[in-house]
Amino acid sequence: MITAQSANLSFSHGGADHPVLREISFQIEAESSCAIIGPSGCGKTSLLFLLAGLLQPDSGTITIAGQPRSGTILQNFGLFPWKTVYQNIGLGLVLKGVEKKRIQQKVEQLLIEMGLTGFGAHYPGQLSGGMQQRVAIARALAVEPQILFMDEPLSSLDALTRERLQNLIQEIRLKKNITMVLVTHAIEEAVFLGRRIIVLSGRPGRVLRIVDNPQAGSADYRQSDIFFHRCVELREILKGEDYGQET
Ligand SMILES: Nc1ncnc2c1ncn2[C@@H]1O[C@H](COP(=O)(O)OP(=O)(O)OP(=O)(O)O)[C@@H](O)[C@H]1O
Ligand SMILES: [Mg+2]
Repeated sequence: MITAQSANLSFSHGGADHPVLREISFQIEAESSCAIIGPSGCGKTSLLFLLAGLLQPDSGTITIAGQPRSGTILQNFGLFPWKTVYQNIGLGLVLKGVEKKRIQQKVEQLLIEMGLTGFGAHYPGQLSGGMQQRVAIARALAVEPQILFMDEPLSSLDALTRERLQNLIQEIRLKKNITMVLVTHAIEEAVFLGRRIIVLSGRPGRVLRIVDNPQAGSADYRQSDIFFHRCVELREILKGEDYGQET
């Protein structure tokens, strides 16, 4: 459903071109999940922007079958501090011109699903980090996306909260048949959530390995030997990768 074929991207500054992504090729099946992992600065966010159509490659192609609805969660959540939780979650629906009554139903249902009941009138600054992250997830889900692009949606959370939210994302993804592309720098998260794991090299990012991970998301996967071995495998692949060269 989503295909990258020999995609290259560079940014120019100081009069020179700085390569960010080199010859990126992979495929993501519809209703499947994909995790993108690699060292800081290797181009993960840039790659997610390419897939979401927010950036265009210099050469090569990115194709998405059909014209699916998509939702995006940015690296810093992108919540508006001057809008309430309710308004933040409903934002995409307001922009789409959905009628008020329907927005109210959707937002209230999402508040329940995300464990945020009673916090609709709060402002993001009055919430914990994990709650803000749940608001960002709720806002992306509000538009009923067929594809969800997530950029480190669970960073800076304690391990247990993080696992709980991973479970929640997995549950919702299955229930709503969502295709998910998740950027993360956490090996365990990539292995738990990514049916396919794209491992990128240090800057400029190249595909080092594509790891198939059919057990992703299954119950008790985290406690299994396969999970442990797959984490070791990823750690080995990433071991030699530092932050890459500035060219
Ligand atoms: N708008 C921009 N203009 C110029 N250079 C940019 C721009 N955005 C990103 N870059 C450069 O592209 C490279 C990749 O950045 P990107 O944000 O995609 O990395 P990342 O893998 O998401 O890093 P992190 O794990 O730290 O979030 C970096 O070297 C960065 O300096
Ligand atoms: Mg990033």
